[in-house]
Amino acid sequence: MKLIFFGPPGAGKGTQAQKTSEEFNIPHISTGDILREAVKNETELGLKVKDILERGELVSDDIINKLVENKVVDMDSFILDGYPRTIEQAKFLDQALEKANKEIDAIIMIDVSEEEIVNRITNRRVCPECGKVYNLLTLKPKEDMKCDLDGAKLIQRDDDKEDTVRDRYRVYKKNTEPVIEYYRKNKKIFTINGSKDIKDVTKELFNILRGASSDDNN
Ligand code: AP5
Repeated sequence: MKLIFFGPPGAGKGTQAQKTSEEFNIPHISTGDILREAVKNETELGLKVKDILERGELVSDDIINKLVENKVVDMDSFILDGYPRTIEQAKFLDQALEKANKEIDAIIMIDVSEEEIVNRITNRRVCPECGKVYNLLTLKPKEDMKCDLDGAKLIQRDDDKEDTVRDRYRVYKKNTEPVIEYYRKNKKIFTINGSKDIKDVTKELFNILRGASSDDNN
């Protein structure tokens, strides 16, 4: 399956993409994770985008499109998490897939209110080693501030402070929300209420994906 997970910052795209990736064995491509890894390793790309990420602004379409292009063209299944985020990126993706004779099977829109997002993101902690995502209120690690998988000390993302979260939400409303309207014309969009418990969101999502994949087989 070729999927796009769409929604505001903190909607749960990464959380649900990790679960979907494990359940259906689909590679998870998160542009945010790729960029943060580059910042951590101080690569040329990382140095270029560090300040942009910290301010919660968008990295340029050219940079992002190049990061994603080879992956989507070469892979037979993927979950795109955090891409496309502008109409230009969506058009670029359409063209790249068309050239490779591929198309997106479903777009999953996870919807959550701004206040819930701020509450969630300011309480998010992540493992700097494996990327597993936790939440101090709703998804605590078994041992205080340590990753369940590898024991690394959990950290807060630089862009997860309240002011930056609100800026990211504004960027989402202005630049990214129009992308869903662009897709509404010719793609299957499934909207999920992301303010439910993580496991209920996962259940609804998996039901949708099982339906979408059986459609493919017909
Ligand atoms: P990116 O990493 O993509 O950030 P984002 O879209 O803002 O999304 P988040 O990772 O914050 O949230 P999420 O929806 O994955 O939620 P999560 O599952 O973690 O991008 C970061 C930056 O990179 C951007 O600001 C931009 O600068 C740049 N960038 C990336 N892609 C780009 C692109 N295409 N173009 C240009 N620039 C780009 O969950 C959040 C928290 O809530 C967690 O603590 C989790 O445990 C908790 N949670 C999840 N679900 C639930 C639930 N149902 N109930 C309660 N808690 C929940």
